[in-house]
Amino acid sequence: MSSHAMTAVKCEEDLFCGVNMVKDCEHMTDLEKKHQPIITAPKSVKKSQCFEVLIEVGKLMEHPNEPGHYIGFVELYADHTYLARMDLTARRTCPVMKTTLSLDHTHGKLRAFAHCNLHGTWEGRAEIEVTD
Ligand SMILES: [Fe+2]
Repeated sequence: MSSHAMTAVKCEEDLFCGVNMVKDCEHMTDLEKKHQPIITAPKSVKKSQCFEVLIEVGKLMEHPNEPGHYIGFVELYADHTYLARMDLTARRTCPVMKTTLSLDHTHGKLRAFAHCNLHGTWEGRAEIEVTD
């Protein structure tokens, strides 16, 4: 085995491989608390009616916000449908995105993604029902 192979990190252990999620909500690690996007949205909305969604990163434990370590973007999807994105710069913006949605068909969940330049992409979810 070459030294390169010995130092290779398995995908499950690599924060930059895939999307990271909280593994156990009852026992979150500090890394999870700092990175998981928290979605605040109604549980049920009427079809095509506007409603607000708030996404906060670092709500459970503050995430650093400096040029060497910061949240670079936040994105929002309804299931696999792309909805919105906010690009952020260090220090002078905070990793919070507020937007207004109007969903026109049933989705099971809102999915927010936050990307940290040092710790990869993290996903948070919130169930949502769209009614007629
Ligand atoms: Fe980070």
